[in-house]
Amino acid sequence: MAKRRVPRPRDLMPLMKFKKPTLNAKKRRLDKALTIYDLRTIAKKRTPKAAFDYTEGAAEAEISLFRARQAFEDIEFNPAILRDVSTVDLSSTVLGGPVAMPFGIAPTGFTRMMQTEGEIAGASAAGAAGIPFSLSTMGTTAIEDVKGANPAGRNWFQLYMWKDRDRSMALVDRAAKAGFDTLLVTVDVPVAGARLRDKRNGFSIPPQLTLGTVINALPRPEWWINFLTTEPLAFASLDRWSGTVGELLDTMFDPTVTYEDLAWIKDQWPGKLVVKGVQTVADAKKLASMGVDGITLSNHGGRQLDRAPIPFHLLPDVVREVGKDTEVHLDTGIMSGADIVASIALGAKFTMIGRAYLYGLMAGGREGVDKTISILGEQVARTMRLLGVTSLAELEPGHVTQLQRLIPRR
Ligand SMILES: Cc1cc2nc3c(=O)[nH]c(=O)nc-3n(C[C@H](O)[C@H](O)[C@H](O)COP(=O)(O)O)c2cc1C
Repeated sequence: MAKRRVPRPRDLMPLMKFKKPTLNAKKRRLDKALTIYDLRTIAKKRTPKAAFDYTEGAAEAEISLFRARQAFEDIEFNPAILRDVSTVDLSSTVLGGPVAMPFGIAPTGFTRMMQTEGEIAGASAAGAAGIPFSLSTMGTTAIEDVKGANPAGRNWFQLYMWKDRDRSMALVDRAAKAGFDTLLVTVDVPVAGARLRDKRNGFSIPPQLTLGTVINALPRPEWWINFLTTEPLAFASLDRWSGTVGELLDTMFDPTVTYEDLAWIKDQWPGKLVVKGVQTVADAKKLASMGVDGITLSNHGGRQLDRAPIPFHLLPDVVREVGKDTEVHLDTGIMSGADIVASIALGAKFTMIGRAYLYGLMAGGREGVDKTISILGEQVARTMRLLGVTSLAELEPGHVTQLQRLIPRR
């Protein structure tokens, strides 16, 4: 039997660690988030269902996205021990310029609809962290304003080729003039993917006020106040639109774009050119032989072709075939720093985050995006140190075992 005694105040004092309450509700909220999934939980509470589902959703049965995330989970890391990992360097050179960490912000359309600060929050947070920000053709902030929000950092412009090619190329010209250093040409949207959540929610641009949306808005007043008291949701590069996203894409986008058109675009762009949405080794080889500066293995976050190849599975073969000639980047499914480290270990030069960034944005505007970047940065650094490496260059395929599930039978 343990001998008991009455606790003395002297013993209790050091145990009493009452924190000073934080009056800033946003900070309190964000401080609690330890993972990107935590930010997602906050985002879901604060964003109208239709806008949240537009962001979170993927095409058809959403199998592509599910599999991409599963592929990241299905790895085993092989750590080296007894190394000095007192410091770790996450920086590298990507497309001829510096990046402070091995990930950047992917282009996303309609960003101000998710949270009113939209691209300004993304670009300024990226600039502060030393990582690139990508502005979508379907962005909701003007090219020049994005440059204003990230004046000293790297801005990339993402091109969708429209049926009206002169207008598309006028945008490219503006991006070049504004000092954007890289053009991402997205090639996986010849037509819109079937985003069934949007259809089911009756989601349209701009959001419609129906009885359902009004009821859903009641617990989310801040989003609506922001929406109604800031500049109307116009597109940076497009006149006003009224309809679903799928209708918009199918009306605007040119389904006839080919390799010849890509060569034509490449001739006109003064900076680096990356083709986003590459999904086979054969296409990667063709692009490398055309002399593009980079390719992004991506299935658009599962939002286009459902059951598309998993970019992370494609990575080793593509790096083997073209990695010497062109930079191989990767996106789709990244929700943690470990996903990024695994991608770099298997040969990706860089990675991009879509939803991970948007969850942060919806959870807390600029501070929320800062939080996304700091969570991922810390996870990358910790994973590297636990693997026994102190620089990205030291990461190699031996650090990752891809466990066998959903591996193609050849
Ligand atoms: C809401 C949303 C909008 C997007 N809009 C675009 C776009 O306008 N242009 C583009 O090239 N890709 C777009 N994407 C795809 C992203 O650039 C990126 O490929 C994808 O989000 C990566 O997957 P992840 O969300 O799992 O990180 C969008 C993705 C989301 C989630």
